[in-house]
Amino acid sequence: MSKSSQLFPVPQSFGQKAQINKASYEELYRESVTDPEGFWGKQAEELLLWKKPWSKVLTWDFKTPTIRWFEGGKINLSENCLDRHLASRADKAAIIWEGNEPGETRTVTYRELHAQVCKTAALLRSLGVKKGDRVAIYLPMIPEAAVAMLACARIGAIHTVVFAGFSAEALRDRINDCGCSLLITANEGLRGPKAIPLKETCNEAVAECPTIKKVLVVRRTDAATPMEPTRDLWYHEALAKLPADADGRAESMDSEDPLFILYTSGSTGKPKGVLHTTAGYLLHVTLTHRAVFDIKEDDVYMCAADVGWVTGHSYVVYGPLSNGATTVIFESLPTYPDAGRYWDVVDRHSVTIFYTAPTAIRALVKEGDAWVKKYDRSSLRLLGTVGEPINPDAWLWYHAVVGDSRCPIVDTWWQTETGGVLISPLPGATATKPGSATLPLFGVQPVLVDDDGKEIVGNGVSGRLCMKFPWPGMMRTVYGDHERFRQTYFSMYPGLYFTGDGCRRDEDGYYWITGRVDDVLNVAGHRLGTAEVESAIVRSGLVAEAAVVGIPHEIKGQGIGAFCVLRENVAKDAATTKGILHTVREVISPIAAPDAIWFVSGLPKTRSGKIMRRILRKVGEGEFESVGDVSTLADPAVVSEIVATVKGAPLLQK
Ligand code: WT7
Repeated sequence: MSKSSQLFPVPQSFGQKAQINKASYEELYRESVTDPEGFWGKQAEELLLWKKPWSKVLTWDFKTPTIRWFEGGKINLSENCLDRHLASRADKAAIIWEGNEPGETRTVTYRELHAQVCKTAALLRSLGVKKGDRVAIYLPMIPEAAVAMLACARIGAIHTVVFAGFSAEALRDRINDCGCSLLITANEGLRGPKAIPLKETCNEAVAECPTIKKVLVVRRTDAATPMEPTRDLWYHEALAKLPADADGRAESMDSEDPLFILYTSGSTGKPKGVLHTTAGYLLHVTLTHRAVFDIKEDDVYMCAADVGWVTGHSYVVYGPLSNGATTVIFESLPTYPDAGRYWDVVDRHSVTIFYTAPTAIRALVKEGDAWVKKYDRSSLRLLGTVGEPINPDAWLWYHAVVGDSRCPIVDTWWQTETGGVLISPLPGATATKPGSATLPLFGVQPVLVDDDGKEIVGNGVSGRLCMKFPWPGMMRTVYGDHERFRQTYFSMYPGLYFTGDGCRRDEDGYYWITGRVDDVLNVAGHRLGTAEVESAIVRSGLVAEAAVVGIPHEIKGQGIGAFCVLRENVAKDAATTKGILHTVREVISPIAAPDAIWFVSGLPKTRSGKIMRRILRKVGEGEFESVGDVSTLADPAVVSEIVATVKGAPLLQK
C-alpha cells in the first residue's frame, strides 16, 4: 500500500467528544447544499450577534459577478469578537502572546482586549479616520496587530495588513493602490536573531504615499527611532493623551460593508487587492474555525501563521476571537533559538490545537525527532496544516512524531480569495489520508472541469478545481477593479469560480490538490506571481529578459528558478547573481529571491514570440529528456543550451 492511500480513522476517543461526527457532518452537508439559504440563515442566527436582522440571505450571479450575503443586516465584527464575550469570558485569555525570545510572554484577557480595542478605535477616530477609510497595518506578530485590526473593524475602517517582511516598494504600492490615510507600524520588529527596521522601511515607503496623513508607531523595542513630528505619533503616547470620554463605540455596519483588503499575487500584473466584506466573512470564519478545529471552551489554540497573510486574519484573529477561544500569537521563528521552539511553546502554554504550514514541518523533519521528543506535548489533541499540498512523508512525520499517533490532522485547503477553509476533514467525522484535504465543508460545492470547462463527474478523476455555488466568506471584488475580478476568476469557465488549482478526486470522493495550474508559485507557502518576480529581476538593469518557473525544493516545496538573458556587456558571474538577488529583495521581499539563476542566451519562444514556459518548467524540474515537442520554436537550439546550463548549476542555497 502506498503511503498516501493509507486511511487514518477518527481516533475513538476523539470522535466520542467531538462536536461533529460522521453522521452529523453528512446530514448538515446535505442540508447546506439542498437548502443553502436555510442552512446559512440558521448558522448566522446561532453563531453571530446582530444589530439588526437581514432581509435576504443571498443574492448571487457569477456572470457579473455579484455576491451579497445577509443584505439588510447590521452588525459589528469587533462586538462579535469582544463585547459579546464579556458576560461569560471577561477574565479568559483572549490572546497569549509568545514573543521572539522564549518565555517573553503576555496574556491579554477578553476584558483587557476589549478595553484596548475601544481605546484604539477612539484614537483612530480622533485622528480623523472614518467609516470606509483605508488603514494600512505593517506590524510584527504582537497583540497590537490584532488590536489594530479589531479597532479598524470597530469604526468601520477598511484595513489592509501588509506582511512586515515586504519591502518599502511593496508597502508603498499597496498603500497607494487603495489610498490609505493612516499607517500603523512598530519602530522595530524582531525575528530570531535579527532586528527589522520597520519604521525606516515605512519612512521610505510613505515618502511616496501622498494619501498618508499620519503614521502611528508601536514601541516594540528600545531602539532610537527618529520621528517626523507633523506625521508620526507614538501609539502609547497618543493613547495616554486621549480624553476619558473618547468615542470607542462600535459602528453599525451593513453586512456587505468592506472589512479588509488583502493583496495577493496572481498570474499577471501587480498583486491585486482581494476585498472581503463583513457579515459573510465573519460567519464563514466563525463556523469553519469552530468545526474544523472542534473548538471547546478550554482549548488553547495556536496558529503559527503571520497576520500578514489571510491565515493570520481568519485563523489567528477573527475566527478564534469570534468563537471566544484563546489564540496564541507567536512572534518568533520555528527554529529560534533552536528547532524545539514550537514544542517548547506548546508545553509552556498547554497548547491543545496546533496549526502550521507544510514548509515548517519539512524544515523540522530535517532537524530530527529529538527536538520534538525533548518536549512533553501531551496537551496537544489536534494538528492542522495549510498553505500548500503536504507530501505524505511530512504528514506521516507530523502525525507520528509531533502528534504521537494520537492527534488527528486537518489538512485545510483554501485561498486568500475564499476567506476561510473550503475543503478539509472535520476531525471527529472524517477519516484522513496523508496528502488529501479530503471533503468539502458545509455549503461548498466543488466541481472538477476539463480544459474546455466541461464538468468531470464521478470519482477517480482529475481536473481543474472550480466552485459552482457561492459561500459566505468569498471575496466580493478586486479593490478598484471589478472587471479584473470577473476576468481572473469567472471568465475561464463561465458560471464557475475558478480556483487556479489542479485537483484529483479519488475513488472515495476525496479531494487531492495537486498545485497551481496557472503562473502562480507557492514558495514556502507564500504566493508569488511569475510575472511579478520577472519584472523585479529586470529592474536590476542587468537582465534583458527573464522567465521564472517553480522548481522542486526540499523544504520550500516549490523554489524559484530564473532563466535570465543578460544585457549586453553584463558578465555571467557571481556579482551579477548577487545584483539580481539584491534587486528582487528590495522590490518585493526576500521571500521572492530566486533559488537558482541561470544565465542563458535566449528563451524558448514560438515564432510569434510567446515564451514556452512548459519547456522551462520541465527543464527546471530536471526532466531533461521529456521537454516535449520543440518543433514550433523559433530557435529549437536554445533548448540544448538551457538544459546544459541547468545541469551544470546547483541551487544558490538549499
Ligand atoms: C493557494 C492559495 C489558505 C491560506 C494560505 C494560502 C495552495 C492552500 C492548501 C492545502 C494544497 C493548498 C493552493 C491555493 N493551498 N492550502 N491544504 N493543500 N494546496 O493562501 O496564499 O491565497 O494561496 O495555496 O494552491 O490555491 P494563498
